[in-house]
Amino acid sequence: MINAFVIVAIFTYLLMLSAFYFRHIRRIHVPVMVAVMVFDCCVPFYLFLTRDWKARLIESGDILSFAVWMHFGLVITLYFIYALQIQTARMLLKGSDNEVRAEHGGQGKAILIVRALVILTGAMLIDPELAESGSGSIMME
Ligand code: HEM
Repeated sequence: MINAFVIVAIFTYLLMLSAFYFRHIRRIHVPVMVAVMVFDCCVPFYLFLTRDWKARLIESGDILSFAVWMHFGLVITLYFIYALQIQTARMLLKGSDNEVRAEHGGQGKAILIVRALVILTGAMLIDPELAESGSGSIMME
């Protein structure tokens, strides 16, 4: 199942992949990564404001489903690695050694994997019955 928001999320993933590829060009790498991280921090607020979360999670009983908790766990993991990545990034900007560089590189790969899984599990959670205008979107009169 796919909706407009998943397409936007996949687009930001491709953007992150290109910033990963251009990791040695700081003027590309840093602003794109910061922008994608800010986007990811705004997503929960956006979904909360635009979706009927009560119908989607409480009334449907999905709040107790494995899929919802797996998705939630992956999101928390992603934010956690982001915090670590920002720390090593700040050290690199101050001019750190190869050890920090390797750490930042390793964490970067983990971010790409976890973020792909976040988008995938999020897309799997779209409810076909509520999907007409997004995943349980609040109907605009
Ligand atoms: C706050 C966001 C970030 C900042 C400020 C930042 C900053 C930097 C800096 C300054 C470098 C060194 C570039 C150079 O060679 O001069 C670097 C390298 C790198 N970054 Fe980031 N980064 C950020 C987020 C990310 C993310 C989210 C990923 C992965 C998805 C990532 C993956 C990498 C990789 C793989 C390298 C190359 C490490 C190596 O040379 O082995 N970065 N980053």
